[in-house]
Amino acid sequence: QGQWLLMATARSPTNIAVIKYWGKRDEALILPINESISITLDPDHLSATTTVAVSPSFDRDRMWLNGKEISLDGGRFQSCLREIRRRAEDVEDEKKGIHIRKEDWERLHVHIASYNNFPTAAGLASSAAGFACLAFSLAKLMNVKEDCGELSAIARRGSGSACRSLFGGFVKWTMGNVADGSDSTAVQLASEAHWDDLVVIIAVVSSRQKETSSTSGMRESVETSSLLHYRAKEVVPSRILQMEKAISCRDFATFAKLTCADSNQFHAVCLDTSPPIFYMNDTSHRIINLVEKLNQFEGEPQVAYTFDAGPNAVLIAKNRKTASLLLQRLLFYFPPPTGSELTSYLLGDKSILQ
Ligand code: PMV
Repeated sequence: QGQWLLMATARSPTNIAVIKYWGKRDEALILPINESISITLDPDHLSATTTVAVSPSFDRDRMWLNGKEISLDGGRFQSCLREIRRRAEDVEDEKKGIHIRKEDWERLHVHIASYNNFPTAAGLASSAAGFACLAFSLAKLMNVKEDCGELSAIARRGSGSACRSLFGGFVKWTMGNVADGSDSTAVQLASEAHWDDLVVIIAVVSSRQKETSSTSGMRESVETSSLLHYRAKEVVPSRILQMEKAISCRDFATFAKLTCADSNQFHAVCLDTSPPIFYMNDTSHRIINLVEKLNQFEGEPQVAYTFDAGPNAVLIAKNRKTASLLLQRLLFYFPPPTGSELTSYLLGDKSILQ
């Protein structure tokens, strides 16, 4: 056995939920208490790129995130690695003289290098892109034959929302009902081409790391918020049906109403948690006001807003014309700091809007 190195690289975009997932019914398997629907973003702007490599010279599994080594000890990385290794197949590369039998994967070690092209852990779903990319690139390296639906259940073990990033366009994460969670997977509702008028604008209110992780926030909400349980049982199931219909008919008014209402209810659940969790700040609230006023003025919704576990606004405009109107308003109310360049301000290089 000479020395050799085999690599695979993948890129995964992040996704933004329009009907939110918040709360687990099984923490170890990461099974949700309600279904969720998301839009997968364009990979050019918000994505993770991951290269995985295997070599007989590696003595342990290691991972670097944005160039800095991180520990792989956490249960989430371990379960993704374990699930992929269990499904690994033979790999042959005659030219390089590589012959890996499927049983060899148990003792071979991998090195993983992942980069995000956007702020990590600032409520922009960096873990969604990261774990989707990890599962996909490892599956390629180890010649795993499973399709994206099955891989989504593995990505889910890293971060719940990651399962939705295995598909583009509009995606639903189904609850599933078997005990091992194998049917709690993502399904594509429609491809990006189905509704390509929509324009997503992300207003980076702060690129600082959030104070309450989604994992601990969810646990606290499940334990203390009665609103969360009411929402999961009485509100989300019908919103999921309405949202599926709105997407299939490209009905923007219904889509926007549901998206805004669901984001607001998720943040109401956070407030209903004890101690309360505040993910949005004053700037986030001012952005909500701006969008509500714009929609009122136009007579029907032209822009939807949604906020994840952080203060940054994800704004979805009906089309390019509305997007440019929205951008003008944003720049009027949140002008670039004196001396800063408009393009870098618009591309979010700085922590903006404060
Ligand atoms: O999958 P996690 O642990 O990053 O949780 C994501 C939770 C929200 O982003 C707030 C909602 C969602 O459905 O993505």
